[in-house]
Formats: sequence, C-alpha cells, structure tokens
Amino acid sequence: MIDVPPSERAPAGRVGVSSDRPADHVRAESFSVFYGGNEAVRRVSLGFATGRVSAIIGPSGCGKSTLLRAINRMNDLIPGCRTEGRLVFDEVDVNSPKVDVVTLRRRIGMVFQKPNPFPKSIFDNVAYGPRLLGIRRRARLAEIVETSLCRAALWGEVKDRLRDNALGLSGGQQQRLCIARVLAVDPEILLMDEPTSALDPRATTRIEDLIAELRGDYTIIIVTHNMQQAARVSDETAFLYEGNLVEFGDTRQIFTNPSVKQTEDYITGRFG
Ligand SMILES: Nc1ncnc2c1ncn2[C@@H]1O[C@H](COP(=O)(O)OP(=O)(O)O)[C@@H](O)[C@H]1O
Ligand SMILES: [Mg+2]
Repeated sequence: MIDVPPSERAPAGRVGVSSDRPADHVRAESFSVFYGGNEAVRRVSLGFATGRVSAIIGPSGCGKSTLLRAINRMNDLIPGCRTEGRLVFDEVDVNSPKVDVVTLRRRIGMVFQKPNPFPKSIFDNVAYGPRLLGIRRRARLAEIVETSLCRAALWGEVKDRLRDNALGLSGGQQQRLCIARVLAVDPEILLMDEPTSALDPRATTRIEDLIAELRGDYTIIIVTHNMQQAARVSDETAFLYEGNLVEFGDTRQIFTNPSVKQTEDYITGRFG
C-alpha cells in the first residue's frame, strides 16, 4: 500500500464528483467543534459547491446543526463552545479576527426549524434587515420587500395584506416569509436547519420547490433528517455519524451506491 501523507489524501468516502463541479463556496478543513470536552464535529473536511444545494444528513445528535451553525458563527454565544481547524469562506477563515460577524451573517443567512417571524407586519419583517443596513427610503424598501417576497414565492399570497401581522400567516407561509427576510439582505449562502420539519406535506413541497428555484442563485446548505428530502433537493450529500464525516459526494450516488457500509445501513433504515 502506498503511504500518502494525510494532506494529500482525498476526503473520506468522497464519491462521484464530476470535473465540472463548481468551486467550493465554503470549505471545512479538518474542522472540529467542541462543547466543553465533547467534540461534536470531528475533523471534518468537505466543500460546499457554489450555487449548488448540499444536504447534511445523519442521525439525531450527530452534529449536523453544530456544523451548519458554525458556518455563520451562530455557536459563538454558546458558553464553552470552541472550534479547531478551518472553515474557509471567500478564502478567509470565518473564525479569523478579521471577520466581522454581522457582515458574515448578512452574507450567510439562516433559516431555522421552526418559523420565527417577528411579531410585526409582513412588510416590517422583510424590511427589518435592509433597515438595519441603513436603507430608509420608503420606495426602496417597498421594492426590496416585493422582490424578496417574490423570490420566496410568497408575494401573490400576501401582496394585499403587507400590513397584517406575520403571526397570522400559516406555518408554511411563515417559513417562506423567514426565507424572504433572509433574501432581503442579499446573502450569498442560505443555511437551512430542518426547515420543513414543523410543516405539513403540502407546505413542505412548496419549500422544496422554492429551494429548487433558488438553486444556482445561492449556495444552499440544508440539514435534514428526512432522507427522501435530501435525495429530492440536493446535488451533494454529506453523511455525518457521531461527529465524523462518513461519506460525502454526489447525492444520487450516495443514495443508490454508497461507498461506505455505514452510509448504506443508514439510508436503508438499519439504524438512526
Ligand atoms: N448548546 C449545546 N451545548 C452543549 N452541547 C450541545 C449543544 N448543542 C448540541 N450539543 C451536543 O452536540 C452534539 C451534536 O448536536 P447537534 O449538532 O444538535 O446534532 P444534530 O443537529 O445532528 O441532531 C450532541 O451530542 C449534542 O448533545
Ligand atoms: Mg439539529
């Protein structure tokens, strides 16, 4: 057996990556996240391709949300949480002191499991971020609100009730509003942590359709415990188990012909 130095080895279990794959938009390099002494993400190396949809799957507690939240530094506020290795976005480590977290979170937006609109009007929810960025002109705000709601496939349903409280919307509409709120500050990357797990099947389909529409314009990284969803919406899939990246590669290949036995056991429902 040829002894290849670790830095030159291909990432574990990487399969089916074609040569026309776009460049990585975010890249983890031997990246770990610790909660105190618990290493929740363990020396993970992988790249999320620009403009593509990447899914992170794996059983509950395997570190999916921890890895996702690290990308826009949402773990910063958790006492005892620290990282090792690198998480590179735009050629800079997101944990570098040079990085302004507010700017980072504008460029890398996040959508959570439970829709969390502010108890404000639909308009004010979407205008919230742009206003924080200093946009004051009424006409400009109205334009951003309309564009963002259109992109989030919600405009038609709410255009006549922009002054209504967002909490009066259905769960699925609220989640699309939260996506519009993120889009309003013109991000490059969308992080989604189980964005449909609180929604009914119809609302779930609408979000999945929306992800397909946004694909290409944004780099989308979605955590899901629903393997059918990962198979439906993503180009590439990362399978995490107990903090380790077991396998990462082309979604179709991961689901039809995984190269690691553990992945096969998981996707065929033998555990997790
Ligand atoms: N805020 C936290 N403080 C301490 N430990 C945490 C925290 N969040 C998650 N963990 C631990 O990190 C591990 C990974 O959790 P998580 O990333 O939430 O997994 P997943 O999203 O895959 O279900 C688990 O062992 C969990 O208990
Ligand atoms: Mg989670």
